Amino acid sequence: MADSSFKRVVIFASGSGSNAQRLMEYFDNHASIRIVALFSNNPEAFALERARKFNIPAQVFTREAFRNGTVLEQVKTFNPDLVVLAGFLWLVPAHFIAAYPNKIINIHPALLPKFGGKGMHGHFVHEAVLQQKEKESGITIHYVNEYYDQGAAIYQHVCPVELEDTPELLAKRVLALEHEHLPRVVEMLLQEQK
Ligand code: GRF
Repeated sequence: MADSSFKRVVIFASGSGSNAQRLMEYFDNHASIRIVALFSNNPEAFALERARKFNIPAQVFTREAFRNGTVLEQVKTFNPDLVVLAGFLWLVPAHFIAAYPNKIINIHPALLPKFGGKGMHGHFVHEAVLQQKEKESGITIHYVNEYYDQGAAIYQHVCPVELEDTPELLAKRVLALEHEHLPRVVEMLLQEQK
């Protein structure tokens, strides 16, 4: 099938990249969707290594390049139908949002709008959920706007918070939900796209 007939996904990741890994596995040899590139702001991100293993072009960028539009120009060369932030920690500049209206999504390890916003990532999220003695947590997949974690929600999935939970135990339970649902939501969004 000619490349142009594929729906194309660009991933942004700042860290380990286990969500990126799931996406690359799920869409490896997919009939109509292809992961075409991975971008990271962190030269040490293991996500870069994971992309290389899948022969997916992996590029590192600086804050300046992200801010001044250089990264947007690089992303445009891949002509993505969807940009997925999979553990990406920086705010997306307004010019980037404007270039891909309703085509940038993020996965957050909590039930937004609670436990979101600046600094609410990874361990800090689960710590806050436990501190508030929440009975449940979960994942939120949402559209990205120029504010942390404030775009419209696309999909949420709930899991219980157990009495003996530590941030690590809760993180593990939530991450498993991310891995289970992110690829399917990406697939659904792209199959809905005209
Ligand atoms: C995940 O918990 C995700 O919800 C959050 O950052 C973490 C990324 O993990 N945005 P990984 O890098 O995909 O393993």
